[in-house]
Amino acid sequence: MTRKIRIGALISGTGSNLQAILDACEKGAVAGRVVFIGSDNPNAAGLERGNKHGISTFSVNYGDIIRAYHNDPAHDAAPADFDLDEIRSKQTLFSVDNKVDPDKVTVFLTTRAIAEARLLKEMSAYPFDLLVLAGFMRTLTPYFIDRVNTTKDEPRIMNIHPALLPSFPGIDGYGDTFRYGCKVAGCTVHFIDYGEDSGPIIGQRAFSIQFDDTLETVRKKGLAQEWELYPECLHLFAQGRLKTVKVAYESRDGKRVEKTVVRILPE
Ligand code: GRF
Repeated sequence: MTRKIRIGALISGTGSNLQAILDACEKGAVAGRVVFIGSDNPNAAGLERGNKHGISTFSVNYGDIIRAYHNDPAHDAAPADFDLDEIRSKQTLFSVDNKVDPDKVTVFLTTRAIAEARLLKEMSAYPFDLLVLAGFMRTLTPYFIDRVNTTKDEPRIMNIHPALLPSFPGIDGYGDTFRYGCKVAGCTVHFIDYGEDSGPIIGQRAFSIQFDDTLETVRKKGLAQEWELYPECLHLFAQGRLKTVKVAYESRDGKRVEKTVVRILPE
């Protein structure tokens, strides 16, 4: 059943995906309306788009928070409900057997949780059904994710990634695709989980990389695809057509793998 959903958006930069979503809501292609726009960067150009559309905006300056913590960890304490061991054991951003310095992981998770608690506080003024990350360049930890995804098996944080996941997670999807010499590039909309760009895939678009393409033209073609794909996925959510299911299979090394995937229900 289609309902008009309340959409919260987080951005870091230009916000061209946000603009595509605002336009799609205005013309009814997405059954929803954007109720707030938040940023980790007070200078994000995309915040101005919100002002133009009469939408409330706010920012939580991640850079300042992280710097303040490094200067004096006692200055900014972790939120009272932050349990480092719990967050560390849930997250899959850093694997336990690689060589990442555990102190660095602690500082990463703690500083992000401090910032995330402030984001959550700002967001609490605007009830929402779906949170969209539209070029939000910060990793969300389980601290934040669990406080947004409060109904079991009903994820409600979406992200758009500039590559055909699971290939090329990370910050430069088009760049990594192009430099690898791929002949096809694309973008992916997925729900957020505890890892890096690893959550259940909702939709993808692909396009060919031609002989005369440059990284710049690949980015341009990719963004044009993103502007169509993201609103389509939001509308599927509004229609109640995104169902997560758990699938289990045996991996090549004989381990049992359980994975959550999205099934798109027929209209
Ligand atoms: C997009 O390429 C998106 O896939 C990635 O960051 C970029 C954001 O662009 N996550 P914009 O701010 O929406 O213009």
